Amino acid sequence: MTTGQARSRNETLDDSQAWDIAVLGGAGHVGLPLSIAMASRGASVLIFDHDEAAVKLVNRGDMPFREAGADAALAQVLESGRLRATTDPAAAGAAETLIVVIGTPVDEHLNPDPNAIPRVLSSISQYLRSEQLLILRSTIYPGVTRLVERTLVDLNLELDVAFCPERIAEGHAMTELFSLPQLVGARSERAAKRAGDVFRLLTDRIIEVDPEEAELAKLFTNNWRYLKFAVANQFYMIANDHGLDYERIRLVLAQDYPRAQDLPGAGFAAGPCLLKDTMQLAAFNDNNYFLGHSAMLINEGLPLYLVQQLETMHPLAEMTVGILGMAFKAQSDDIRSSLSYKLKRILGFRARRVLCTDPFVTTDPELVSLEQTLEESDLLIIGAPHEQYRRLQPATPVADVWGLLGRGVRV
Ligand SMILES: NC(=O)c1ccc[n+]([C@@H]2O[C@H](COP(=O)([O-])OP(=O)(O)OC[C@H]3O[C@@H](n4cnc5c(N)ncnc54)[C@H](O)[C@@H]3O)[C@@H](O)[C@H]2O)c1
Repeated sequence: MTTGQARSRNETLDDSQAWDIAVLGGAGHVGLPLSIAMASRGASVLIFDHDEAAVKLVNRGDMPFREAGADAALAQVLESGRLRATTDPAAAGAAETLIVVIGTPVDEHLNPDPNAIPRVLSSISQYLRSEQLLILRSTIYPGVTRLVERTLVDLNLELDVAFCPERIAEGHAMTELFSLPQLVGARSERAAKRAGDVFRLLTDRIIEVDPEEAELAKLFTNNWRYLKFAVANQFYMIANDHGLDYERIRLVLAQDYPRAQDLPGAGFAAGPCLLKDTMQLAAFNDNNYFLGHSAMLINEGLPLYLVQQLETMHPLAEMTVGILGMAFKAQSDDIRSSLSYKLKRILGFRARRVLCTDPFVTTDPELVSLEQTLEESDLLIIGAPHEQYRRLQPATPVADVWGLLGRGVRV
């Protein structure tokens, strides 16, 4: 690895410069922390992303989204000259290693698109070089590593390929990138060694597997989490339907009982990954995935369940309902696939008026202040359990499935 020299911070690419690592999709939620982390460990990292606004922000030293610990680290790596971002696709060929971490969403029918990454690589193939190492880091549909290898052969390119899944949780990337072991899925010893060397910048715990094992390992990881949340939410509904407080039951059953420590609390299981990756696994198994589909129905059904419960207790159609927290999880500004928005849509039909607030979300012009929400709402629902809400003691009734306010979770 060469250590980067001080570099200019504009968005165009100086093609005389060689970089250790280029990150395609590097201004995103996974790519940016990864790029910063690798640059902080001495690699020179060139981010390539087609989001012009995000690229500008990064080069200016501003994080485009919240990520704990990333702001100071970004400033440092920019200052050292080891990180730069560009929208120029020639960046893909400017480094010894190209890491791909673009989004891999399912479509509106919940189908994955296995060709998304091969398509992007084909579109930039003129910049790829046979001696490069290509690391796939997006969460991919099983078989995509093989598809990428075939695509490269069709393009007469002989890059080493590895699939090295990202397993951080958003908001914890700047610690977890250094603390989690790294799965390296590669077919050849050379690709495994080269990819292992790249990730040894972050950790010495490298676990070598076949690409297909790594692909399923990543999907199983997210599916396991999603299924656990579904169990918790189903238990919540059962307890609630019988007039009981799930959280009280959960706490007593887990007390000094190691086998139940991993039973989660209830709450919205949302965001850009868990449902999407459950649907990827379902598609991979020809839609024969009863457990995954059940988990989807339970988790995605929680907002409607809450509204139905509230309707039995309150004249919702005459009420202003305030949703506290629109991000998909606590302390986040990320609203992608947030169930608070599903809740908002349902309430749009069933309540007189809906007010939404969030201290972190900056991308939704319809949000109002916390003060206005508290003042004008007849009923409140906690959508995201931001710490800021913990100290609230509103006089209006609150539906708090998370148990944040300490008043119980029954609705
Ligand atoms: N968000 C998470 O917590 C998380 C955790 C682990 C794994 N993952 C996986 O990582 C991948 C990326 O997720 P994310 O949350 O970072 O998505 P994101 O949308 O935040 O980031 C993707 C980035 O890729 C860029 N991009 C997309 N197509 C491009 C193209 N053709 N050329 C250049 N740039 C392009 C986008 O502009 C964006 O900045 C997904 O496969 C996701 O499942 C996400």
